[in-house]
Amino acid sequence: MGEEEFRPATAAEIAAGSAGPNVEVRGWVARKHAVGGLVFAIVRDGSGYIQLSARKGSLKAADFEAAKGVTRESAVRAQGTVRSDERAPGGKEVSVSSFEVVAKAESWPITKTAARSASYLFDKRHLSIRGPKAIAAMKIRTEVIGAAFDYFRENGFYLISAPTFVQAAVEGGSTLFKVDYFGKEANLSQSAQFYEEAALPALQKVWIFQPAFRAEKSKTPKHLTEFWMIEAEQAFVEQSENMKVQEELLSKAVERVLENRQAELKTLGRTLKQPEVPFPRISYDEARSMAEKKGLGFEWGEDVPTEAERAVSLSQESPFFITDYPLSARSFYHMTYSDRPKVTKSADLIAPEGIGELATGGQRIHDYDELMGRIRGQDLPAESFAWYLELRKFGMPPHSGFGIGVERTTRWIAGLKHIRSASLFPRTTSRISP
Ligand code: 4AD
Ligand code: MG
Repeated sequence: MGEEEFRPATAAEIAAGSAGPNVEVRGWVARKHAVGGLVFAIVRDGSGYIQLSARKGSLKAADFEAAKGVTRESAVRAQGTVRSDERAPGGKEVSVSSFEVVAKAESWPITKTAARSASYLFDKRHLSIRGPKAIAAMKIRTEVIGAAFDYFRENGFYLISAPTFVQAAVEGGSTLFKVDYFGKEANLSQSAQFYEEAALPALQKVWIFQPAFRAEKSKTPKHLTEFWMIEAEQAFVEQSENMKVQEELLSKAVERVLENRQAELKTLGRTLKQPEVPFPRISYDEARSMAEKKGLGFEWGEDVPTEAERAVSLSQESPFFITDYPLSARSFYHMTYSDRPKVTKSADLIAPEGIGELATGGQRIHDYDELMGRIRGQDLPAESFAWYLELRKFGMPPHSGFGIGVERTTRWIAGLKHIRSASLFPRTTSRISP
């Protein structure tokens, strides 16, 4: 020994056999057990897990003692030789010749008993995110976001940014977070849609990926107060084409996860299938009668209640759209059919398995007088929509778009019980720390 070069390698490279014979492993101790003169440590790095074995006599006495005494979640660096070992996770083991504790961890507070309390785990989220399920969820989330970046680039959409301090309420006044903006009242953005619309005459096809804020009082497994939204908007595009973008985007996200994250799906116990496109389109009226047959009827004109949406969702095998919502259940900017003035050209993209809404989209009113009429008719403050209205005076063609929630999508794809598990540091009504 001594003369060989130890090259830094990740757990995944070692497991795949693409690392050299002599490697340096850097990571965190997930588990350790010592038997006599032999110490086994499972080390986690960003790529996965690798087993290290330290045999007394094969490394300096001080290094052996360091390995023997290392605590869970300590950061370590070790050098050694890769061996195949069927009993090791991933089929490979590194037999170490040096072992160093780089940063020692105190006694790990997340014991098996403590871990039974979800609220404790979220109080300790800064630590509990090191668990295999949390890691798997985050890696799946990365694929979902990556799929969006690729999809939009391949399809000629420009990525834009928009402010999160805003004045206009895109999705109604009841869920606004108010902030004091140097003595003026401002809000945190609920959706970047209006800025996307403004960007259309410049860029024609745009998308955006940024946080959205909702003062949702609802304590449910699908609501956060801060979440990430992917939104897209296209000029000269009608609602039917807008739905196509949504199903292609979601399909690509599923495809990516199936391609790259099989191990993580397994960790989460998730069976995921590639949905077929086009997704089924169920009208609001059809959804209403489906719900009614299950004893969950509701008035025409109401938004589809959660329980009814859940029942329809449970009846479907793949994601689907509910189309043609009544105007009374939609925001003021929605376009209606010329022959059905109470019905909007809109749809929600719904996940199956009882998960429910992932996206909302629709065609917008592009005519000035019609939009002004809607704002007046709903008693909205025209001043705060002044610039949004003015767009309609300067060449606004028919246009459509949608917003899809990143955490809701991750929740469905990863099969997570609660949306908070799709966020590294979730914000809910009852949680603003860590
Ligand atoms: O349905 P929403 O409110 O639609 C809009 O904001 C449109 N302006 C988007 C657009 O057309 N550009 O929100 C869009 C999506 C929802 O379908 C849902 O996935 C997610 O954002 N979402 C939430 N996710 C987590 N927690 C919440 N409180 C959410 N509210 C909306
Ligand atoms: Mg919606």
